[in-house]
Amino acid sequence: MCGIVGYVGPKNAVPLLIEGLKRLEYRGYDSAGVAVRQADGALAILKRVGRLSNLEEALDATPVAGGLGIGHTRWATHGEPSEINSHPHLDGSGRIAVVHNGIIENYLALRAELEAKGHVFRSQTDTEVIPHLIEEILKGGGKSRLEAIREALRSARGAYALGIVFRDEPDALYAARCGSPLIVGVGDGEQFIASDVPAILNRVNKVIYLNDGEVAELRPAGVAVSKLDGTPAAPEIKAVTLKAEAAERAGFETFMLKEIHEQPRVLRTLLDAHVRKDGSVDLGEASALLEAQAQNAQRVLILSCGTAHYAGMYGRLLIERWADIPCETDLGSEFRYRQPRLPERTLAIAVSQSGETADTLASVRLAREMGCKVVSICNVPGSTLLRESDAALLTQAGPEIGVASTKAFTAQLMAFALLAIRLGRLRGALDEKRERELTAELARIPDYIHRVLDRQDDIRAISQKYYECFNALYLGRRFNYPIALEGALKNKEISYQHAEGYAAGEMKHGPIALINELLPVVCLCTPTADEVRDKMVSNLKEVEARKGRIVAVVAEGDESLRGLAQDVIPVPETIEELSPLVNVVALQLFAYHNAKARGADIDKPRNLAKSVTVE
Ligand code: AGP
Repeated sequence: MCGIVGYVGPKNAVPLLIEGLKRLEYRGYDSAGVAVRQADGALAILKRVGRLSNLEEALDATPVAGGLGIGHTRWATHGEPSEINSHPHLDGSGRIAVVHNGIIENYLALRAELEAKGHVFRSQTDTEVIPHLIEEILKGGGKSRLEAIREALRSARGAYALGIVFRDEPDALYAARCGSPLIVGVGDGEQFIASDVPAILNRVNKVIYLNDGEVAELRPAGVAVSKLDGTPAAPEIKAVTLKAEAAERAGFETFMLKEIHEQPRVLRTLLDAHVRKDGSVDLGEASALLEAQAQNAQRVLILSCGTAHYAGMYGRLLIERWADIPCETDLGSEFRYRQPRLPERTLAIAVSQSGETADTLASVRLAREMGCKVVSICNVPGSTLLRESDAALLTQAGPEIGVASTKAFTAQLMAFALLAIRLGRLRGALDEKRERELTAELARIPDYIHRVLDRQDDIRAISQKYYECFNALYLGRRFNYPIALEGALKNKEISYQHAEGYAAGEMKHGPIALINELLPVVCLCTPTADEVRDKMVSNLKEVEARKGRIVAVVAEGDESLRGLAQDVIPVPETIEELSPLVNVVALQLFAYHNAKARGADIDKPRNLAKSVTVE
């Protein structure tokens, strides 16, 4: 959840660390800090609670400079956000500084052992044991700093990405990874570390994705990677293909708004990558596994969390409908603890924007232990999920920096559509003609989304009528039920307005009690003709009878609900199966403008972090 950067080279590390932290602030933003080895031999440590701008102000007031440094932006796990608990953490002598993302699970036992040896701890964090452990090992003598790091990490249990610097070694930056993401940016006469590629875009065009159990020693002239037992590793250096603009706001007031507007392009990219000129679907790298699994699999199991879980619920409906195969979904956090019973031949699909969500990863590991093959739908190249899957469908949405997921979600929906079509073809559930019809309709979706974006001013005006309400209810049926859930989640996470998503048919089993003249009820009422549409209209009538304030998302040209709904948001009509891709964009904009009117910090909602790397 936290963000890490580090630099060693001839330049002043401070502006580079701040630039990197700005691009990683989405990972956590309750405090930030840096450690910089200065030319006078001192290790300067500066930390501030709150946003990164507080740290920047402190650095302006007390400038520090040096060619070696590490920085951190925190999402608190152990210990409240405070300067003491902020990273970097030091050993007892103040010579070793460490930044950490993850959780050292056995820190209490390690801390007790170290305290018994006289170490005094200042913070409540798990991280602080690492510099103390290294200090203790070095005290014994006869070991290099690298050996001491490896030995310390051999006794740590849990997840970590670490950046480590020593006051007495001005030209070496150490990094280690186990379960939390960390990359090395390979430069010319300078090297970087970062939690994620966007932090060092502009600065390097080659990276190494560290593997679990690897330690890197970075010096200006080069990088050496070894395993925890000391054997050398042979890191693969990969080219960075992302453009720096991908991690910038490009004139939009927030990343979230930029990402909402990027959706047509993102979906077009995905379609171009996977739909051939003749209209057939080609899943590239994932094809071979799906071909092998299509007839063999008795069941599909979709694992994910949060917004990705709602994409999974949508995927389930498509897979059952188009590929005619039983499918279930589960939350990563539930699957791992429910003692699941799976048919012998189950194909698992894991969905994650970041590819680093701890519960999703744990559920994937369990599914693999149970014999499942795993296909992942993921947005981040080089992520842990991708490495642990048998095949992948990359959503190619580019860096998603706004904490609330938007473009990654619609890309997940599109990826499921492509996957369900391909599975359907392989299983003979769809014929060639139907495949062509479906991909032709998929190709229209980016334009439909453009048309929703063009209605932004109208959607903003509607949201202004409701932003002061305490609660909101979102209703949808079948393919639009997951979209009701996602619309409500988007609203609550960025505006802090309490919002519930419900299957419209369930409303009368409880939430109907909430309805009064103060409650906005957002209803997904497209397409105009399908077998659940009449049921949806009956639900609207039930809301109307109790004086609820209906905001209906309707198909363009559908005037039939104007008398029933206080407000309508017209969107282009497509087939029911693809309507979620269009409808969700209207709900994203509705939530966005609601949050803006409520004065919320949209890109950095309180208490949240972009990738949830703890259980
Ligand atoms: C989305 O808006 C959320 N912030 C959150 O629910 C997110 O989707 C969830 O944490 C899963 O993340 P992932 O896709 O990176 O696995």
